[in-house]
Amino acid sequence: MESVVGTAGVLIPPPGYMEGVRALCDKNGIMFIADEVMAGFGRTGKWFAFQHFNVTPDLITFAKGSNSGYVPVGGVIISDPIAATFNERVFPGGLTYSGHPLAAASIVASIDAMKEEGIVENAAHIGEDILGPGLRDLAERHPVIGEARGLGVFWALDLVSNRETREPLAPYGGTSPAMAELGAEIKKRGALPFMNFNRLHVVPPCTITDAEAQEGLAILDEAFAVIDKHYTG
Ligand SMILES: Cc1ncc(COP(=O)(O)O)c(C=O)c1O
Repeated sequence: MESVVGTAGVLIPPPGYMEGVRALCDKNGIMFIADEVMAGFGRTGKWFAFQHFNVTPDLITFAKGSNSGYVPVGGVIISDPIAATFNERVFPGGLTYSGHPLAAASIVASIDAMKEEGIVENAAHIGEDILGPGLRDLAERHPVIGEARGLGVFWALDLVSNRETREPLAPYGGTSPAMAELGAEIKKRGALPFMNFNRLHVVPPCTITDAEAQEGLAILDEAFAVIDKHYTG
C-alpha cells in the first residue's frame, strides 16, 4: 500500500489505520510493503511517509524522489529479517540494469544534497507554515473547496458544488466546465496544475521556497475567485 495515497487523492491514513494493517499482516503472515514511490524521500516532510505512523514495513519500494529523477531509477529496501533469507540462498532475480552504478551514484548524491541542504526539513516547514495554513485559508474563503488535506509538500483540494452534500465539481472519471476553467485560470497566471476529476493537487518540489509557495497560493486564490460562481450549494 502507498503510505499516503498519491494520485488517487492524497489520502492520509486516519489514526490507527496503518498500525491496524501492520497487526493484520503480522497475524496472517503477510508482507507489509510500503509503496513510497511518490510519498517517499521527503515529500510528506519526513524521509518516508510511513514514519508519520507507528509502523515498520517489511519492504519499501521507492523511485522518483530518491534521485529527483536525474536518471531513471527505482528500488526496494529490504528489512533485515527478509534480507537474511538470502544469506542462505541466492536471490532469484535479475534485471538488465540492476544496481546500475550511475543510477546508484545519483541516489547517493541526491541523499547527500538533501541532508546538507535540509530539504526534508524544508518540505515539513512548507507544509506546516505555508501550504497548510494557506490552503485552509483558501478553503475558508472559497466555497468550492470542500476539503484541503495533506502533509509536507503533498496536498490535494476536493472541489465541490455543494459543501453539505459534497457533490463533486466534476464526476468521477470525468471533468466539467468548472474544472476546465480552473485549470485555464491557473495556467493563465503561470502555474501548471495537476487535476484529477474534481481534485486539484498541490504538490510542488521539496525545494520550493516560502516566497514561491506564497506566489502559488496567490495564483490559486485568484483562480478560485473566478470559479466560485460554479458553487450552487
Ligand atoms: C505510488 C506509485 N507507485 C508506483 C509507481 C510506479 O513506479 P515505477 O514506474 O518506478 O515502477 C508509481 C509511478 O508513478 C507511483 O506513483
